[in-house]
Order: sequence, then structure tokens, then C-alpha cells
Amino acid sequence: MTRAELDAVPSYVVNPIPERKINLSTNEVPFGPLPGVAEAVAAATAKVHRYPEMAATGLRDALAARYRVAPERLVTGAGSAALIEHLVRATAAGGGEVVHPWRSFEAYPMLIAGGGGRSVPVPCTPDHRHDLDAILAAVTPATRMILLCHPNNPTGVGLTGAELAAFLDAVPPHLVVAVDEAYREFVTDPALPDALVEHGHRPNVVVLRTFSKAWGLAGIRLGFLVASAEVATAVRKVVTPFSTNALAQAAGLAALRAEPEMLRRVGLVVSERDRLAKALSAWIDGIPAAQANCLWLPVGERAVELARACEERGVLVRPFAGEGVRVTVGTGEENDAFLAAIAEVLA
Ligand SMILES: Cc1ncc(COP(=O)(O)O)c(C=O)c1O
Repeated sequence: MTRAELDAVPSYVVNPIPERKINLSTNEVPFGPLPGVAEAVAAATAKVHRYPEMAATGLRDALAARYRVAPERLVTGAGSAALIEHLVRATAAGGGEVVHPWRSFEAYPMLIAGGGGRSVPVPCTPDHRHDLDAILAAVTPATRMILLCHPNNPTGVGLTGAELAAFLDAVPPHLVVAVDEAYREFVTDPALPDALVEHGHRPNVVVLRTFSKAWGLAGIRLGFLVASAEVATAVRKVVTPFSTNALAQAAGLAALRAEPEMLRRVGLVVSERDRLAKALSAWIDGIPAAQANCLWLPVGERAVELARACEERGVLVRPFAGEGVRVTVGTGEENDAFLAAIAEVLA
């Protein structure tokens, strides 16, 4: 009764998070909603018997002003994950190929399949970089889209300005290149370009951003993309109607008003990220310099065992069997608990 190709697609599993555990497994920011968000959402609940404003005009205009793009180039949705699927539906439905790096965001194969595309994963280099030459070489006449993750989840490694520019110059201009910048706000290395600022003007470039990470709205589901007006118009046609819900619109507007506090919190995450990286590097080799709000521990075959041992000590981290463990940067206290747990495990 359902599409046979879905049988081969892995399910996206996020296990329930027990309240009593420290959760460093899902890449959120740990400080609660930004000031003004809870109040704005509470006020918006008074009208939840009505449909939301379909085009999310107020939020779209605020985003357009904040990111200096024309509103018609913006599409909002129920998280950037949903928008990735919509984008695939708009470019590759019917079995078109979508080339993407791997290991990367674990939902990509599912979102590509969900949008009716065919996932073509291209292994990252041993030092966790996108293998851009191999990605280009994987392009065939059946390719409809390339998806990059910058910086990459789970490794936190991004592209340099020269790399990204040369890659975009080399891609055939009819192919959409989607740059997923879910973690952009955590980037501190000036070598990593802001793809929206540097390349957003290219007609085939689509930049994806989310309110789930730095902006603290993971539970409410809000993301957006910026594309050429033509691509944005096509995506809008396949977005599930009203999926930028009324509470998300209110929350997004309130979060944007709290940008200075968002930046302050990102500063805390970044300094904790650097502290954690330094401490962990004394015990584990090859941790890449992270530019997201997580660290990648390339522990290979020990990944599952290590995560289980941390869980037994009250800290949840994300294992990728046979590859490594991703740990989200938490509060100072949470990170200390993780360091204590892992010190015990490694001893
Ligand atoms: C690289 C990347 N893209 C997109 C997403 C999805 O974000 P959203 O919550 O906006 O759907 C995530 C979430 O972990 C991610 O890591």
C-alpha cells in the first residue's frame, strides 16, 4: 500500500528523554525560551481556534528586514527539516537524485525520500570535511539538488570561503545547491563564510536556517529558507498549508526581538564548547574543531558502549554505531557532569 522505496529508508529515531537525565543528545540550547517568547505564545493561544495567517506575513517581513532579503525570497515552515523535504519535493520528486555529504544530519536520507527524491550520500574525508570534489563527481543527469551542511552535524566542521565559492562556481547552474546553516549562529571561525550573505544572491543557491538551535524554539517548529523568488515560489506551492502555525509565528517574532540575549547565550555556548573540546582532547584523539553547538568524538567501535556508560551515569549523548559520539554543549554544570562521567568511563 505504500511506496516500496521507503522500505530501505531508516527511521529517524530520537529516544524519549527521561526528565532526570542530563540531555546532551539533541543539539538544543539549554537556557529556556528567550525573554518575551513564552508571553507571546501565551497571548497567541487566545486565537488558536482560528487558522494562522497563511503567508506568515508579519514574521516574513521581520525576517526579510533582519536578513536583508526581499520577502518574496523567504519561505517559512515547520522547522528547517520540513523545508528540506519541501525543497526536495519542489526539485527532485519522482526519483531525482539529491547528492549530500555523509556522515551528516541523520534525517537527510529520510527527508529526501519523503520528498520523493533519491539520496546519494558522499562520504566525508577522513578529517570530517565535505568531499566537494567527490560531491561534484557524483552529479549525474539525474541529479536535481545538492545539499551541503555548513557547519556539519554531527562533526561541527564547516566549509572555507574559498572552498564554497569554488564549488558553487563549478556546479552546473541548473542545479539547486541547498546550504543548511542550522548552526550558523555558533560559528566563530572567520574562515567559515555566511552562505546567505556571501552567496544568497546566486539564483541556484538556497540557504536554510532554523529557530530550533540558537533561537531556542526547537519545540515549536520554525525554520525558513531564502531562495531566488522563482525557487521560493515553487517551494511555497508544496509547503503544507498553514504549517507555520500561529504560535510559531508569535514565538518567532518575539525571539527576533530578543536577538541581543540570543547572542549572549550563544557566547556562553561557544566558550563552553571550547572548554569541553580542550578537556576532551586530553583523552580522545582527533576531535575536530567544532563550529556548531556540539562536539564529535571519533571513538569508532566504542561509540555505543561509551554512550551507554554515560547514560548509566545520568548523561545522554548521541552515539553513531561504529563511528563516534556527538555531545551537545550544555550549561557549565551539565558539561561538568558529562566530563566527570566520561573521565570515569575512560578510566
Ligand atoms: C543540520 C541540521 N539541519 C536541520 C535540522 C532540523 O532543524 P529543525 O528543528 O529546524 O527542523 C537539524 C536539527 O538537528 C540539523 O542538525
